[in-house]
Amino acid sequence: MKTADIQKIAVIGAGDMGHGIAEIALLAGYKVSLRDIRSDIVEQGVKRLTESLEKLLKKEKISKEQYDRITKDLLYSTVDLEEAVKESDLVIEAAPEILDLKKEIFSDTDRLCPKETILATNTSTMSITEISLATKRPDKVLGLHFFNPVVLMKLVEVIKGDHTSEETMETTYNFCVRTGKIPVRVEKDIPGFIVNRVQAPSGALLGAIVDHGIAEPEEIDALFRKLGKPMGPFELNDFTGLDISFDARNYFAQAISPDLAPFKLMKAKVEAGEYGKKTGRGFYDWSKGRPEIDLSKATEKVDPKDILAVQINEATKLIEWGVATVEDIDKAIVNGTGNKKGPMEEAQQFDPEDLVSRLERLSREFNKKIFEPTGMIREGKYINGQD
Ligand SMILES: NC(=O)c1ccc[n+]([C@@H]2O[C@H](COP(=O)([O-])OP(=O)(O)OC[C@H]3O[C@@H](n4cnc5c(N)ncnc54)[C@H](O)[C@@H]3O)[C@@H](O)[C@H]2O)c1
Repeated sequence: MKTADIQKIAVIGAGDMGHGIAEIALLAGYKVSLRDIRSDIVEQGVKRLTESLEKLLKKEKISKEQYDRITKDLLYSTVDLEEAVKESDLVIEAAPEILDLKKEIFSDTDRLCPKETILATNTSTMSITEISLATKRPDKVLGLHFFNPVVLMKLVEVIKGDHTSEETMETTYNFCVRTGKIPVRVEKDIPGFIVNRVQAPSGALLGAIVDHGIAEPEEIDALFRKLGKPMGPFELNDFTGLDISFDARNYFAQAISPDLAPFKLMKAKVEAGEYGKKTGRGFYDWSKGRPEIDLSKATEKVDPKDILAVQINEATKLIEWGVATVEDIDKAIVNGTGNKKGPMEEAQQFDPEDLVSRLERLSREFNKKIFEPTGMIREGKYINGQD
């Protein structure tokens, strides 16, 4: 399958991600079948998609003709999997993060769609290789990891499973370019891919800082806000849901290192049913809306360079393992998180010896092997241009 052969897309799951993925494909002129398990859910997905298109129309980002063409000719919604996939060239699955469910969808889709069709999963955590083995075409299966909200976030991680062919990678990468996204190749199927992987150790460090009583969540959030972030890490956790972050950390603890397990305060919050915004309380009280962060509380006990150091360290692991290039790691972080610079560009501001001793100190102080400096950091490679 070549990119020019892709005409029809099927999106499986019409939730937060699925309706957004359908929308960007429609905006690029593709025909899309959107499938969910119940007609009321699929209708809700279509409603969200249409409302988003209406906003674009109001802002004159699309024309009335384009709006009419998308809603009348290009978009098709259904609860029937066979109907959705039978003529599709690319299927993008965005169903819940449950491995057996994804395997079942891939096995059924494999049976029901043309033999050339490319099958992609939007999984945030699962092994692409394992999902691909539920089909008879593992060479045509890959990961397409979009970011939320799909319409606004430019990055797509294009992930190669152990059996994914180069043609599948290239065709799908170019499809992403055609939809106006910024794709980044992830050459190996590792837990967390690029963005979530590079950020996992800094999440663990911030949690350990709280558990050690060094700073409170609000003091850390105030620091991040003062540094120009729209939201601090704990408020962001509350916003997206502590239950989701808790599951992701448990997954990383099992798949990467126990050092990444949920920190004590987060575990206590989740056990108490305090998931953040959605339950009205998490690290903050959300009952009266977004919490006011008192910027005067910004901690001086946390060095922002420590947070960067553990991300840079993790990024060098991906380079050492051949998962992604230096440029692609920075491109992924900038476009997937909104940070102004990626970790490898940030690395240039560090003195190589300072970076090594900083990581050794953090590893010792918080008893986390994951912070130990990599060979690349110890050798000073990529730091201060020493490539
Ligand atoms: N939400 C995020 O921020 C985000 C970001 C990147 C990736 N992801 C990944 O995207 C996927 C979907 O996440 P989401 O946030 O859109 O979830 P969601 O719960 O909003 O949507 C999932 C949808 O899939 C539907 N569904 C369940 N079984 C199905 C089936 N057999 N066939 C078709 N549809 C089915 C559900 O009814 C639901 O509407 C997950 O794998 C998630 O890890 C989520």
